Amino acid sequence: MGSNLPPSRQLAGTCGAEHYTAVLANAILRHPEWMEGATPDMEKLWRWHAIEETEHKSVAFDVYRHCVGNERLRRIVFLFVTWNFFKYTFLNTCSLLKTDGKLWSLGTWIGGINFLWGKPGVLRKCMPDFLAYFRKGFHPWQQDNRELIEKNLNELELKPSAR
Ligand SMILES: [Fe+2]
Repeated sequence: MGSNLPPSRQLAGTCGAEHYTAVLANAILRHPEWMEGATPDMEKLWRWHAIEETEHKSVAFDVYRHCVGNERLRRIVFLFVTWNFFKYTFLNTCSLLKTDGKLWSLGTWIGGINFLWGKPGVLRKCMPDFLAYFRKGFHPWQQDNRELIEKNLNELELKPSAR
């Protein structure tokens, strides 16, 4: 979001982006099998990041609700965030594949599309959670996944007592 936009829209943009990261973080924490094949360090890093995204998932949202509160604006801005999210994720994927010399590898693309939309279908299965944002009165903690934070902190031995 450019800084030439009014603060209310910038904040709505942050809320929308945070919703995407929160839903994907929930997916990683709930489905450790989706990280199968990742190197152990990367798997740990992503799980840690997913915990961190979950912990603060309503911070921007609560500020928006308190200071702006416009439900219509929140939902309209989410459409722009959605466009940008998929656009930049696609462009970044292309850039990473190019670095690996796999930009034109059909098998890689088919495997990736299958992973996201086929089986296990990470994005397909996240669709209801993504769309929940359009509900009137939506709040990030309506999806209460605090138990996943606890479980993953324990498994990663990141509990303060285990440090
Ligand atoms: Fe975040």
